[in-house]
Amino acid sequence: MFRTKTCGELRLSNEGEVVKLAGWVQRVRKMGGMTFVDMRDRYGITQIVFNNEFDAELCDAANHLGREYVIQVEGKVAERSSKNTNIATGEIEIIADKLTVLNRSEVPPFTIEDNTDGGDDLRMQYRYLDLRRSAVRKNLELRHKMGFELRRYLNEKGFLEVETPILIKSTPEGARDFVVPSRMNPGQFYALPQSPQLYKQLLMVAGFDRYFQIAKCFRDEDLRADRQPEFTQIDCEMSFVEQEDVLQMFEGLVKHIFKYVRNVDFDYAFPRMTWADAMKYYGSDKPDIRFGMKFVELKDLTEGRNFVVFDSAEYVGGICAEGCASYTRKQIDELTEFVKRPQIGAKGLVWVKVEPDGSIKSSVGKFYSEEDLKAWAERCNAKPGDMILILAGKTMPTRKALNELRLEMGNRLGLRDKNTFAPLWVIDFPMFEWDEETQRFYAMHHPFTKPKDEDIPMLDSDTGNVRANAYDMVINGVELGGGSLRIYNPELQDKMFELLGFTEEKAQEQFGFLMEAFKYGAPPHAGLAFGFDRFVSMLAGLDSIRDTIAFPKNNSGRDMMNDAPGAIDEAQLEELYIKLDTERIEKSGAKK
Ligand code: AMO
Repeated sequence: MFRTKTCGELRLSNEGEVVKLAGWVQRVRKMGGMTFVDMRDRYGITQIVFNNEFDAELCDAANHLGREYVIQVEGKVAERSSKNTNIATGEIEIIADKLTVLNRSEVPPFTIEDNTDGGDDLRMQYRYLDLRRSAVRKNLELRHKMGFELRRYLNEKGFLEVETPILIKSTPEGARDFVVPSRMNPGQFYALPQSPQLYKQLLMVAGFDRYFQIAKCFRDEDLRADRQPEFTQIDCEMSFVEQEDVLQMFEGLVKHIFKYVRNVDFDYAFPRMTWADAMKYYGSDKPDIRFGMKFVELKDLTEGRNFVVFDSAEYVGGICAEGCASYTRKQIDELTEFVKRPQIGAKGLVWVKVEPDGSIKSSVGKFYSEEDLKAWAERCNAKPGDMILILAGKTMPTRKALNELRLEMGNRLGLRDKNTFAPLWVIDFPMFEWDEETQRFYAMHHPFTKPKDEDIPMLDSDTGNVRANAYDMVINGVELGGGSLRIYNPELQDKMFELLGFTEEKAQEQFGFLMEAFKYGAPPHAGLAFGFDRFVSMLAGLDSIRDTIAFPKNNSGRDMMNDAPGAIDEAQLEELYIKLDTERIEKSGAKK
């Protein structure tokens, strides 16, 4: 046998056993006549001892080992005199009898230990070395475990795992498509799926009833910490269900994963919040409800005192930051700078402090009487020692800015603990979103989402206020997943395309196959998809989804390791009937 044990499994109970291990050299230390080698594999680290007195030749060979050499060691398990309580094998060591160098290694560009000296870019460039670090490997182990548990849950509930194509027809809604030229069909392109949405609906028409897939999805959009150009969804669809069935089924999935992967028991039904309330109280469609600090509307209490900023504002709203009356001028200035950042966009910040003795101070004290300010404090439920922070302006942008301020205060006050999980469903999303630039409605979820039955009469008369049967699963301010009831009536689907500005021909060209399928008995159906990478990242307590992915892209969508994307041969281009516009490419300043 190549090895009889792994580097992570030997304990004191194995003392005296003769074992054979294989792995990498993490570190070599010489102490007197002894040489200690920390040997690593996927399972852990074991200390190997070479004693110059017993076998000088063997010890000399150990002294010549370099970092990341691949070795095989035979020896006897012995109790360690100085134990290392930080590692599972820390009570034993192997007294080596035999050492074989299986492969040498160049000196790695960074230390392969939990606390590495490698910067982000370097680690991405040598990702296969980074993956040897236990911190990164653990995330992939967690990912595997979650994949296994979710398959177990869905299998038990009768879901069938079906793969859908990766080379598909381009559908323009949503993000930009990645496209792939077809050699056999000159001048024509496939798109990579942004999600398996249409296929899973077709599987429902096919009678599959309960489908799921751990599906790779591709979106050419601007990247952030929680977005990758290729990512993975836990994609699901069900037939003959109402919204309630779907919410229960997938709340069950989330609870199952938390229980079996993190040992967290949610023994309550997840709260549900309408989109309208989420915006009103948190200024976000993905509220972080680990903490309170709900928005309080103050417009009516602030009017008529000649404070133009509030008088002219459509919306005046505040949050109560507990225990923050002690904030210094410098701290308040910092917060003011924070809300004035261009990406947040507030014009300024008003504060009201309820001092410990009950007296009130405010940055707008010269416009408002103590009575006025007391009324605000009362509405905000501010107690002595608290501070109210107020923003004013147009309703939606101000709510969004107040959301950022609330999250910032949550961070400052330590209210966003990564080990506390606060899930909720956000429901009743609006069906449409108006885009000022293109002067048209877009589907907030996607064009196959079913409007609420009671709102269907408003489709033409009050389009912007039509609500959808759409829902998102939100945990700790992260949109983990979302879905909807689908339209299965061809006339309603036609109406939707019309409202979204598709001509009949365009709708036919792009979604004709779906509409055709719907003529043959489409069952009522609904579904949802979770972002798998986000789910893993949340359970692993990470700030970015990057470290849940074995080989991720950087923020410019590049694979730092193999430098993709790259140019292709002239011959390859020719075969695809493609000519590059070199002038424009040069002007774009693209990397050569
Ligand atoms: P949606 O577009 O909301 O819905 O996507 C579902 C979930 O996928 C995750 N997600 C992403 N994760 C990483 N990087 C990205 N670029 C990215 N984009 C989305 C999010 C999101 O909640 N077909 C519908 C689902 C349905 O209606 O059934 C869909 O794709 O966690």
